[in-house]
Amino acid sequence: MLLDVRDLHVEFHTRDGVAHAVNGVGYAVDAGQTLAVLGESGSGKSVTAQAVMGILDTPPGRITRGRILFRGRDLLTLKGEERRRIRGAGMAMIFQDALSALNPVMTVGDQLGEMFVVHRGASRRDARARAVELMERVRIPAAAQRVRDYPHQFSGGMRQRIMIAMALALEPALIIADEPTTALDVTVQAQVMDLLADLRREYRMGLILITHDLGVVADVADRIAVMYAGRIVETAPVHDLYKAPAHPYTRGLLDSIPRLGHKGRQLYAIKGLPPNLTHIPPGCSFHPRCPLARDVCRTEEPPLYEVSGERGSACHFWRECLDGLGH
Ligand SMILES: Nc1ncnc2c1ncn2[C@@H]1O[C@H](COP(=O)(O)OP(=O)(O)OP(=O)(O)O)[C@@H](O)[C@H]1O
Ligand code: SF4
Ligand SMILES: [Mg+2]
Repeated sequence: MLLDVRDLHVEFHTRDGVAHAVNGVGYAVDAGQTLAVLGESGSGKSVTAQAVMGILDTPPGRITRGRILFRGRDLLTLKGEERRRIRGAGMAMIFQDALSALNPVMTVGDQLGEMFVVHRGASRRDARARAVELMERVRIPAAAQRVRDYPHQFSGGMRQRIMIAMALALEPALIIADEPTTALDVTVQAQVMDLLADLRREYRMGLILITHDLGVVADVADRIAVMYAGRIVETAPVHDLYKAPAHPYTRGLLDSIPRLGHKGRQLYAIKGLPPNLTHIPPGCSFHPRCPLARDVCRTEEPPLYEVSGERGSACHFWRECLDGLGH
């Protein structure tokens, strides 16, 4: 297994108390696989990713429990220098906002080239050639000319491609893309997603795709992990989950996106709001919003039940949910 996150806990000490942002997350990604991580704003998707990348702000954040195994080694036990080396060559991250992630006063060619100068000891000239090659890889037209342009001279979609190129530069084994297309319009979103999917195949890398939009990941992900209040509440191969969710929260997310073949059906919105992370409800944290909730849900926290060999659901009543109850 390329990346295996186990029982990860992260908390933030804030003026309002301790925010329990990540509460026992576990997920795994293999080489050549795409895992989509889905959930509403504040569910802990980015914090988990930051912990994996080793870029969590500590303080205020603190990893209180868990293991992050990268090729079998627990990253949480590595010392600074070793950790940095893995971050440079082993894994890379793509962020939502390319404009703020790129340096505005450096040409994209210099920024891409610098990766090769710093990490591979390439000459300036070689670095420039590699930069052009990378830009071609992410399908930027007229790369040889555009390599001298600055980030603001590119469209949003093209900038996102440049950030993908930066992430790919050292051919990492794992890429974490945190809402990589949220800032783009729908057609460009699809193009960038397709590009990521192609590159993942080409490089056989593991890809974690963080999103709150189930529609975007259907075609590119192998598996989905759904997060709620800092936990994985459902995990499944993407098509199984689409066909029949095994958790009421997933069902709510599915019912709230327009889907082909469901035209005219009224879109559903999950009632209520995600919990305050300093006061997560006892029992099942989703119970105040759940149409299937009953007494046991208010007192007993559901473990991640095994639904099948490949699926898990943290719902006491996952069978009912699979059967389509609770609409
Ligand atoms: N630097 C921080 N200081 C204090 N609390 C934080 C900090 N970063 C994150 N948190 C807490 O962790 C929670 C989860 O944040 P996270 O960024 O992982 O959410 P997310 O699932 O990525 O949401 P979004 O879809 O909006 O990006 C936040 O709601 C917040 O309470
Ligand atoms: S455990 Fe209960 S409250 Fe939680 S999702 Fe299942 S039915 Fe709903
Ligand atoms: Mg986020």
